[in-house]
Amino acid sequence: MPQKTRLFIPGPTPVPPQVAEAMARPLIGHRTQDFAGLYARLTKKLQQVCGTVNEVYILTASGTGGMEAAVASILNPGDKVLALVTGKFGERFAELAKVYGAAVDAVEFGWGNPADVNLVEDRMKAGKYKAVLATHNETSTTVVNDIKSIGELTRKEGVLLVVDAVSSAGGIEMHADDWGVDVLITASQKALMVPPGLAMVSMSPQAWEAVKKGRNPRYYLSLYAAKRSFARYNTPYTPAVSLFVGLDAALDMILSEGLDNVYRRHIAFGKATRAAMKSLGLKPLAPEEWASPVVTGVWAPEGMNADDIRRSVLKDYGILLAGGQEQLKGRIFRISHMGYIDAVDLLGMIAVIEIGLKKLGYPLALGTATAAAQAVLAGGELGV
Ligand SMILES: Cc1ncc(COP(=O)(O)O)c(C=O)c1O
Repeated sequence: MPQKTRLFIPGPTPVPPQVAEAMARPLIGHRTQDFAGLYARLTKKLQQVCGTVNEVYILTASGTGGMEAAVASILNPGDKVLALVTGKFGERFAELAKVYGAAVDAVEFGWGNPADVNLVEDRMKAGKYKAVLATHNETSTTVVNDIKSIGELTRKEGVLLVVDAVSSAGGIEMHADDWGVDVLITASQKALMVPPGLAMVSMSPQAWEAVKKGRNPRYYLSLYAAKRSFARYNTPYTPAVSLFVGLDAALDMILSEGLDNVYRRHIAFGKATRAAMKSLGLKPLAPEEWASPVVTGVWAPEGMNADDIRRSVLKDYGILLAGGQEQLKGRIFRISHMGYIDAVDLLGMIAVIEIGLKKLGYPLALGTATAAAQAVLAGGELGV
């Protein structure tokens, strides 16, 4: 039998059959009432997922395209920006702001730690910033940042809060308006269960004030252009129509499960995965309190290369895990449990990791990690 490849990477994530079927339907034209109806429906559903009443623009771009659109639109050369760096994607946000000429103060919190809110407060008091750039779920270090508390600070100081929710929206609770998020960016290929290709950006009225004063050059990624077309539920350029249709089906799945149930499921899978790894003596990268519910980073055992573990489970069982990035390369592996992954997928993957580790000579009793995950799931964590 040809081997099945199973994605346990944090994007692209597995696409549900309902979404694949929707995307396979005959295409609709994008300058039609059908498309306008689709974009209008998507807006309402995305607003629920993001916790906002603001318009949500859907760009045909990857998540980075959404981040660039936001930065290019709200920042001017010389604007002071505080970038909270908790990993690779925080670094990317800071780099983007620099490319568009902003004066960026990047605060490094160390890979594996969340942003320290007290330190953020001190830095904000010390300098007058136009915007704070933060990552909600730092996929590279599997840490979640406390956007709600950071939002309290930015709101008090009248500073724009721009949040990369690329790997969190639809998997981790987000109340953009209540938490004071001015610009929220997400993408299709993570917890939203759609193939790569769409970025979504929501903007508060305060953020629009900044856009109006924008002087940076922009064309394809202009949020002005996106907003103008949005008034007719359209897009300035040809959108990835099939992905829009797929997103409609995926959001129906998420909303019919219920956002709270979706979040609870991800939290339970995160706990089960961490319990499984700890039962083998392996250490998660993130501190328990800030460990991501959608992706788990694990230190490789002493003397073992994390990429050997990944290669072993891929070759023998078709399980694709993610590696460490930059300074974590070879030192950690990352297990994604976001989106269309169920308890059976999770338990099977954990059982395979046990086999992979054992084959590489790590001493363990087969079944230990699986039992630890089973105990979490059977303990009512899923609410069943
Ligand atoms: C937190 C976060 N931000 C940004 C990105 C970049 O998204 P893309 O690869 O779609 O450009 C990713 C992708 O992994 C991510 O996880």
